[in-house]
Amino acid sequence: MFDLLIRGATLPDGRRNQDVAVRDGRIVDVAHGIEGQAGEVIEAEGHLLSPPFVDPHFHMDATLSLGQPRMNVSGTLLEGIALWGELRPTLTRDAVVERALRYCDLAVSKGLLAVRSHVDVSDPRLVTVEGLLEVRERVAPYLDLQLVAFPQDGYHRGPEAADALSRALDMGVDVVGGIPHFERTMEDGRASIEALCRIAAERGLRVDMHCDETDDPLSRHVETLAAQTVRFGLQGRVAGSHLTSMHSMDNYYVSKLLPLIAEAGMTAVPNPLINMMLQGRHDTYPKRRGLTRIPEMLAEGIPVALGQDCVLDPWYAMGSGDLLDVAHMAVHATQMGSVADKKALFDAVTVVPARLLGLTDYGLEPGCHADMVLLQASDTTEAIRLRPNRLKVIRRGKVIAETPPERSRLTLEGRPVTVVPSDYAPSAMS
Ligand code: FE2
Repeated sequence: MFDLLIRGATLPDGRRNQDVAVRDGRIVDVAHGIEGQAGEVIEAEGHLLSPPFVDPHFHMDATLSLGQPRMNVSGTLLEGIALWGELRPTLTRDAVVERALRYCDLAVSKGLLAVRSHVDVSDPRLVTVEGLLEVRERVAPYLDLQLVAFPQDGYHRGPEAADALSRALDMGVDVVGGIPHFERTMEDGRASIEALCRIAAERGLRVDMHCDETDDPLSRHVETLAAQTVRFGLQGRVAGSHLTSMHSMDNYYVSKLLPLIAEAGMTAVPNPLINMMLQGRHDTYPKRRGLTRIPEMLAEGIPVALGQDCVLDPWYAMGSGDLLDVAHMAVHATQMGSVADKKALFDAVTVVPARLLGLTDYGLEPGCHADMVLLQASDTTEAIRLRPNRLKVIRRGKVIAETPPERSRLTLEGRPVTVVPSDYAPSAMS
């Protein structure tokens, strides 16, 4: 007897007509034609069944604050930071909690069940930290929230940053953050990476730094981060977020840099929506894309996880909580158009960030948590193309969100048809 049986699903690896059996919140079998009774049966009808989406880079303390106290007129990263600096002293713990919980509702509806969020520790009141620690606990039954202590204004810029970051970690924040390119000088940036990696090593924590989020071809902080990762024995526990300067770097230098990043076991976390929006702002034409070298890093064996970064905040007046929007943008901005490319980008919003966050028992194998998303798409390529409705979102074997399939009725004269976007897939038409 199973608690839940999903019949006739397509899996991300391409296996079709698969059944998934669930008992006590875990997957117990995945095969074609599973026999047995179940408390609940879901007919997948060939749709894609995936493990949940995982966002490896987000700012949950800022989300849904768009327009407070005013809009970002220039649209730049720096005006966004300045705007956030205006809003920050007025924040209350309750306001942070309310916005974050509301955002998590949206995330769950999109099948996004794990998020790594940076939390700004620049205001020594740490109301952002208090708020997101409360949120982490409240959403735990349905969403895994991991927090990064993020010194948004720079670790070496102000006298209180080091103490505030240390207190945030004492309070239970999970990961050490940083922003070396925003320190006053390259040397201060280098020193901040060393100091922050040392703290992570001493406390046994992971590291995730905003790194080289500029168009400066000479920004070299990712090189330092790779070197300090090895020096402190942090291999496999460090992420470099954004890495946009790599877009503009000299090709010879990048040919030396990529093996260093691979050697350090670092994960790269580009944020395609935000990088496309914020970078290249000082260019006329040609205008740089501001996205790091994703296909080249994948070819080097560097894990790449794609993040969302922002939804409706001082940096980005768009965003939907949908990691498939992120993958969709990445396909275009990187020109990764083959089926294998798109599968790699689907992995970059599911299994790769799950590994980065250290999620345990994540996946669709027997023994894994029964956390799944049923999408109105026939495979991963179609999922990225359509960013379709999430028919069922399942957490620990229970359906926690449902969206009806998309279907439009046309009343054209002589042509009364129903349009279902997923029916237009090449595989559906053959
Ligand atoms: Fe960020």
